[in-house]
Amino acid sequence: MTDFHTHILPRMDDGSGSVRESLEMLRQERLQGVDAVALTPHFYPWKESPAEFLSRRDRHYQQLESRLPEGCPQLALGAEVYFFEGMHVSEDVPNLRLQGTQYLLVEMPFESWPQRIIGELFRLRDRGGIQPVLAHVDRYLRFQPRGLWRELAQQGILFQANVDSFTQWRTRGYITKMLEEGWISHLGSDCHNLESRRPNWDLLPQRVRERLAP
Ligand SMILES: [Fe+2]
Repeated sequence: MTDFHTHILPRMDDGSGSVRESLEMLRQERLQGVDAVALTPHFYPWKESPAEFLSRRDRHYQQLESRLPEGCPQLALGAEVYFFEGMHVSEDVPNLRLQGTQYLLVEMPFESWPQRIIGELFRLRDRGGIQPVLAHVDRYLRFQPRGLWRELAQQGILFQANVDSFTQWRTRGYITKMLEEGWISHLGSDCHNLESRRPNWDLLPQRVRERLAP
C-alpha cells in the first residue's frame, strides 16, 4: 500500500513536530502494511515562494533522512499545493510534483467551485507534464453537486481520498461508490501526528483493502 498524503516531514507545517515523532509515524505506517509514503507538507502560495518552500523541505528532509532505520517505507518528496489562480502558467508548479512522477496533489478551496476554478484545473492538466490529483476529495463532497465528480473524472482529473472517509457515516457511502466506480486513484492517511490525526490504515475496512490488492 502507498500512503499518498502525509504530514510526516518534521517541523514543516502543522504536522509532525520532531524527527522523533516522524520516525514513530513511519514505524506505525510500516506496521499497518504501508510500504511507500509520499511526504506532502502544505504549500501555501501566499506564505512563501515555491523556491523557499523547496529549500526548506530539503533541509527538513535531510534531518529525517540521516535517522531513517532499515525497513522504513520507501519515501518520496512532494507537496500538498493549495489551489491558486494562475497555477497553469506558473513556472514553479512542476517542481512541486511528487518526486519521480507527474502527480501534483492540489488542495482545493472549501466552497462550491465556480467555473473559473474548474477551468483552471483543466488548463493545469492541459499544460502537459502535470497530472492534477485533488487532495482529500471526501472533504469537498458537501460543497459540490454530485454530477461534478463524474465530469472531472471524465476530464482526467484524479482524486485522492482520506482513509477516515471510509469510516465516517457522512462520507463512507459515496466515497465507497466513487472507489468502486474507479474514480479514486489514490488513498492517503493525511496523518499529522500520533494522536488526533495518526496513521490510520488499521481502520480501513476490509472491503476497501481487498480492492487495493493487486
Ligand atoms: Fe493534508
